[in-house]
Amino acid sequence: MDKILEVQEAALEAIKQATDLESLNQIRIQYLGKKGSIQALMNEMKELPKEEKPIFGSKVNVCKQEVTSALEKRQEELEVSALSENLIKDKIDITLRESNLRLGTTHPLMMIQKEIEDLFIGMGYTIAEGPEVEEDYYNFELANIPKDHPARDMQDTFYIDPNTLLRTHTTAMQMRELEKAKGTTPIKLICPGKVYRRDDDDATHSHQFMQCEGLVVGENITLADLKGTLEHMANAMFGEGRTIRFRPSYFPFTEPSVEVDVSCPFCNGKGCSVCKGSGWIEILGAGMVHPHVLEMNGFDAEKCSGFAFGVGLERVAMLKYGIDDIRNFYINDQRFLKNFDRYD
Ligand code: PHE
Repeated sequence: MDKILEVQEAALEAIKQATDLESLNQIRIQYLGKKGSIQALMNEMKELPKEEKPIFGSKVNVCKQEVTSALEKRQEELEVSALSENLIKDKIDITLRESNLRLGTTHPLMMIQKEIEDLFIGMGYTIAEGPEVEEDYYNFELANIPKDHPARDMQDTFYIDPNTLLRTHTTAMQMRELEKAKGTTPIKLICPGKVYRRDDDDATHSHQFMQCEGLVVGENITLADLKGTLEHMANAMFGEGRTIRFRPSYFPFTEPSVEVDVSCPFCNGKGCSVCKGSGWIEILGAGMVHPHVLEMNGFDAEKCSGFAFGVGLERVAMLKYGIDDIRNFYINDQRFLKNFDRYD
């Protein structure tokens, strides 16, 4: 009987001393486990005389209950203190500095593209898209530039194979759209996109750049329509009061072809360093769609006519924002791009 009390007292003392759940579990095993001290007492019962067995048995049971409930109580206490310890340890330090991740900025070329798109959508144009890896057929053949035509030298081309290339101008998209229309008019669209030429990169040349082509085909479309449209664009892009002028030029897919200048927005046409004293800045190429191009694409050139123009977006952005090196658009320098952060 004394032994029972001894075991009980030792167990209760150990439970009291336990400082964490792990050691409490060890105590549970030590006293209540199959090979534990209390089970050992039960085993001893077998050796006792019959009349002592019930008293001994009930004492061991009381001991077992005492130890079990002490264990449960201590477990609860330890769980509560473990939880509050964790809460203190995991406290979120809200005084931490914010991270230095910067928001991206809208790329200046995308801003120009969007501006042009909005302008022409406002005039009832649609926006067409096409592949950057293009067939020679659309980039050259349908644009009235057959193989061995000297005009192929005007645009040094990245060829992938003899019939596949990186498009050299957005005119390729124009040809796809003309073909798709199957001779039906009116057509009124712009096609913005990247184009590629084998140029050595410097301050004014880039082997990759962006163009936006405009194309209108219908009855009685004249050079005057082209001029009015481009004047409207010049005013929208470079400010009210701009005038434009046409100079004769040559493109195989337009006839007549023109080079278009806008009156210098920096000096109002008086002459300054940007326009090199001339008062005019060249901004794009344009012309009336060549009748042969219309015929090749299934249009009746007697009944309809059209105009087309192609503007370089870098050139517009450089003029508009005073950027002096075209490479800035492609090197992803945060210091440059940050200038265009509308949310700064
Ligand atoms: N495709 C010409 C170029 O890339 C631009 C252009 C487009 C000229 C449409 C006339 C008409 O230089």
